[in-house]
Amino acid sequence: MKVKFGRQTLLYPMPAVLVGAVVRGNPNFMTAAWCSIASHKPPAVAVALYKKRYTLEGIFETGAFSINVPSSSMAARVDYCGIYSGRSEDKSDMFELFHGSDKDIPMIKDCPVNLECKVLHKLEVGSHVLVIGEIVESYISEECLVDGQPDPEKIDPLIYSPKVRTYHRLGEVVGRAFHMGKKAGGLK
Ligand SMILES: Cc1cc2nc3c(=O)[nH]c(=O)nc-3n(C[C@H](O)[C@H](O)[C@H](O)COP(=O)(O)O)c2cc1C
Repeated sequence: MKVKFGRQTLLYPMPAVLVGAVVRGNPNFMTAAWCSIASHKPPAVAVALYKKRYTLEGIFETGAFSINVPSSSMAARVDYCGIYSGRSEDKSDMFELFHGSDKDIPMIKDCPVNLECKVLHKLEVGSHVLVIGEIVESYISEECLVDGQPDPEKIDPLIYSPKVRTYHRLGEVVGRAFHMGKKAGGLK
């Protein structure tokens, strides 16, 4: 039995990332759960930002932003960045920052994964602007690499559950992608 649940933005899982931008000359970070990869070539990421977000003002100003993937231990600071606006609270001193070649793209050292992005497209979709950024560089904390590859358990990303509004961690490994399906022909 299915229960109709209405026109809801239910998607699982949602990441809880920190979007960084320089706004009016000052680094600012906001939490976003509506974030996904948008393209492989060029490598691109999409994030849906409500039109009035202070961070969006900076993204429009500079044409650049960062996506920072926090670990679960950063949950309280992530939540803070999702409650308070840079319009009234200075969030620039909450994290130790670093930059790539572009000073307009502030990134967070504590976050194990960082994507340095230049705006490719902006698309108005109702209440939100879908910002698509080309990933010009990515960074990963060395201690999160195992055999040169990003290790999900070491990254320990923060996951968000819509509606119930809770933060979670990754669960157990279920199987190998692009592999276990090969043996599932008999399940059709
Ligand atoms: C878990 C969580 C997820 C959020 N996801 C989004 C999102 O995807 N898009 C958005 O526009 N706002 C989202 N918000 C709200 C913004 O983070 C919040 O309004 C923030 O204060 C905006 O900061 P700013 O005004 O400094 O840009 C989220 C908040 C939380 C707590």
